[in-house]
Amino acid sequence: EVYNKSQFELYTLTTWLLQEQRKGKIDSELATVISSISLACKQIAAAVGRSGISSLTGVAGTGENVQGEEQKKLDVISNDIFCNCLRMSGRTGVIASEEEATPVAVEETDSGNYIVVFDPLDGSSNIDAGISVGSIFGIYEPSISVGSIFGIYEPSETCMVDGDLDQSLEACITNVCQPGKNLLVAGYCLYSSCHTMVLTIGDGVYGFTLDPYVGEFVLTHNRIQVPEVGKIYSFNEGNYAMWDEPTKKYMDSLKDPAKWGGKPYSARYIGSLVGDFHRTLLYGGIYGYPGDAKNKNGKLRLLYECAPMSFIAEQAGGMGSTGKERVLDIQPTEVHQRVPLMIGSKKEVEYYESFYKN
Ligand code: AHG
Ligand code: MN
Ligand code: MN
Ligand code: MN
Repeated sequence: EVYNKSQFELYTLTTWLLQEQRKGKIDSELATVISSISLACKQIAAAVGRSGISSLTGVAGTGENVQGEEQKKLDVISNDIFCNCLRMSGRTGVIASEEEATPVAVEETDSGNYIVVFDPLDGSSNIDAGISVGSIFGIYEPSISVGSIFGIYEPSETCMVDGDLDQSLEACITNVCQPGKNLLVAGYCLYSSCHTMVLTIGDGVYGFTLDPYVGEFVLTHNRIQVPEVGKIYSFNEGNYAMWDEPTKKYMDSLKDPAKWGGKPYSARYIGSLVGDFHRTLLYGGIYGYPGDAKNKNGKLRLLYECAPMSFIAEQAGGMGSTGKERVLDIQPTEVHQRVPLMIGSKKEVEYYESFYKN
């Protein structure tokens, strides 16, 4: 043979989307939304990769976002990139972002009207040190017609109206506050030594790695399954003193070599959910952000972080739990709601839950 033929047979995200469309798993509207997100992720990957060179590190100077966190330049840029790509898809009715105070109705929607929730840049405390960051997203069908919002109300660029909530904002919030079990699609993109997009449309989990020379995401992980058990835990143990008794007892037990045949668990914690979760998905183990005395519901946001990741975990044979209940069953009561998250290998998450049952 002159050359290895398979190295030129790229199975791209675009090919995969067309195939899933042909199989009837998604329609062309949804495929368009996913494509527009993949474009956003490529743009963010490029911005993150050049951030040190093109002065994109550091804080934005916009002050605190609605989460009470100081926005980094790349938080703002990534949010703008996501919003632009979704608007230009013409298929999104309402978008909700970690970085936006309220959900936003998209004026440019033609059809589809999908509801998209996202964390444009996850792990932003890590970016200035060149450590892995990511983006997380989820797509819902409208729970009440977005068309009717526009029918009744003038389309506004944002749902935000000076003063009180008006009815159009309420309609946006209702559409966004859906339980995770309604998700049609969830995914994330990890920007790291390589850039990997992990995606589920409710039929298994697939991973696509960005080929920087071709500029396409290429299928590299076919139907990811999280190992049923795994001896890596990923918690911010700095918060130990503030944890409740069950969580402390659980952590003490992981560190007890006698309990595990002489070898305790290994600790790995980046402080980027996307990176920590991606490792957990591939190697097995558990990622946890429990509630604590200061933050009763922990830190992670239900809509942009916990629900999409839990959908992916379940689709890979794992679990996503608060310790007391399935994350995907939670009916959000507010857009920026936080919930405790225990996620990863089924047996590991069940083991955590057992400390609440006893
Ligand atoms: P974001 O950067 O999108 O605000 O998310 C930060 C989250 C998540 O990425 C990470 O797992 C967690 O915060 C880390 O929190 P601690 O610094 O409290 O460990
Ligand atoms: Mn943030
Ligand atoms: Mn985040
Ligand atoms: Mn973020």
